[in-house]
Amino acid sequence: MSGQLVAIVTGGASGIGRALALLAAARGMAVAVADIDAARAEATAAELVAGGGTARGFACDVISPASLEALATAVRAEWGGANFLFNNAGVCAGGTLETTSAADAQWILSVNIMGVFHATQAFLPLLREAAQRGEPARIINTGSENSLGLAALGPTTVYTGSKHAVLGISDGLRRDLKDSGIAVSVLCPGFVQTEIYDSYRTRPEAFGGQKRVSEKRAEMMRGMMVKIAQTPDITAQICLDGIDGDEFIIIADPRIRGFAEKRHGEVAAALDRTDARMVALGESYPAYE
Ligand SMILES: NC(=O)c1ccc[n+]([C@@H]2O[C@H](COP(=O)([O-])OP(=O)(O)OC[C@H]3O[C@@H](n4cnc5c(N)ncnc54)[C@H](O)[C@@H]3O)[C@@H](O)[C@H]2O)c1
Repeated sequence: MSGQLVAIVTGGASGIGRALALLAAARGMAVAVADIDAARAEATAAELVAGGGTARGFACDVISPASLEALATAVRAEWGGANFLFNNAGVCAGGTLETTSAADAQWILSVNIMGVFHATQAFLPLLREAAQRGEPARIINTGSENSLGLAALGPTTVYTGSKHAVLGISDGLRRDLKDSGIAVSVLCPGFVQTEIYDSYRTRPEAFGGQKRVSEKRAEMMRGMMVKIAQTPDITAQICLDGIDGDEFIIIADPRIRGFAEKRHGEVAAALDRTDARMVALGESYPAYE
């Protein structure tokens, strides 16, 4: 290792991932920009290098364990290790559960959940080595406002489910890694100005193939985002600030409070009903150890 910290950003060629890559490079880290869109990954890395940073673009499909193993091997060969794994690649397709095709559901769950699983398995050995050297080691999973409740924009039912899973996996992983020196964070952005509305542009053949949104829809989305969505630069700044503060849940948008509090209120009310039922049933249980 050269002493330079190393960050891997999946989905690093666009949107939030690109902004994370730019900021990590600006902070002096070597950055692996990993994306299914190899050309854009290379272009982003070239931009970081042109700005004085250290970066390389990598083709990577987070659905594929082999692709992530190859990425981990390449990162080790290039920089000798890894310190920050940003599991950021994600896709979204709108729809109710009924109107979402099984192929789309599989694709969304494969990228958003299994992508986090495969990348984490591939990079854990490198992160463990970093922790053993006394260096920072952290996994940062990009969740969503959909991790904490039901977002105002929708329906995106399968996507919402996938992002709840990202929170659950992050929480379990935090416990798994409690004594390892590897920290875990989950980034929950709100609505961000990215190209997520055009996620089908990278949908693999196996799930229905690529499709572009019409220019009219893209314009409409961009117009709406400029009015109400956060810029990815701000999302990335809040994320790195949360990492500096060793935060588990990093919330990038104050408007998430409404969805999160609604969910918390529902859980609290359900617990109150359970307490009343226990009394009515004459049941009582010892506390968990
Ligand atoms: N934009 C938002 O409003 C918003 C809100 C909350 C959470 N998020 C999350 O932020 C993350 C980044 O999304 P974004 O909004 O920047 O979208 P984006 O479409 O601009 O960027 C996503 C990137 O992921 C890449 N990608 C897609 N499938 C991949 C795969 N199988 N393997 C590797 N890379 C793949 C894409 O090529 C793209 O570069 C996602 O996890 C998304 O769910 C976005």
